[in-house]
Amino acid sequence: MNLKQKLKVGMIGLSAAFLVACGSTDSGSGSKEKLTIGTDAAYAPFESLDGDKIVGFDVDLLDAVLKEAGLEYEMKNTGWEPLFIALQNEEVDAGISAITINDERKKTYDFSSPYFESINMILAKEGTSIKSAKDLEGKKVSVQNGTTGQEALEKMFGASENIKKFDNNTLAIQALLNGEVEAVVADNAVVQEYAKNNPDKKLVAITDKENFESEFYGIIFPKDGEHQEEINKALKKVIEDGKYAEIYKKWFGEEPNVETLKQ
Ligand code: ARG
Repeated sequence: MNLKQKLKVGMIGLSAAFLVACGSTDSGSGSKEKLTIGTDAAYAPFESLDGDKIVGFDVDLLDAVLKEAGLEYEMKNTGWEPLFIALQNEEVDAGISAITINDERKKTYDFSSPYFESINMILAKEGTSIKSAKDLEGKKVSVQNGTTGQEALEKMFGASENIKKFDNNTLAIQALLNGEVEAVVADNAVVQEYAKNNPDKKLVAITDKENFESEFYGIIFPKDGEHQEEINKALKKVIEDGKYAEIYKKWFGEEPNVETLKQ
């Protein structure tokens, strides 16, 4: 929350107190702080738009965690790169967006403990000759700008004109469908979900556990933000008490292995 928002909340508080002082029956409910949580809602099954509603695994998990913490919130579809800027400017109190915890990001932001294990994967057209990440060398590949998919490709092949960067993953997939690129690199659950839900597009999802590394998602916070401790405590509770497993089953149709999250 920035100063302006804080002042606003302060004023709402004051006017609630004024109403109470004037004998109003208003219980002062407007005075409770509401957190703003940013996301990039173009990454199903974690977050996507259903009409103007943001839905997905991350959304359900966040709701369970913030209920557990007793915090009120609203989600804001900031987009991907603007989310990181909004965190730095403290225009959002936290973010959830399938965000991989890594050392580079930890320099600027704080993270909750891990809530999901992921790995990059390749999406390509049926009949492709691509069998592993190494086969992407010299080929045009799309990624969402500023993701670990981009990072993985640059680590293997160096920064290259062949790596086409897009503001969101929907555009990166569009580039594959258009024939602008031969493959997309993105998180495994997203790649698999897209291939499965769009059989008419005739796509294949290619795994490469040798050249891509395992990653973990976390809820992201501005550095030394106000709410990370209570939110992290609530996240642990939700994982332990089975609510996490319930949400996981709803979105992935199977039991999670919560052991991998304990590290
Ligand atoms: N896990 C990857 C990363 O952190 C990609 C996340 C993209 N998330 C999104 N909502 N578009 O870089």
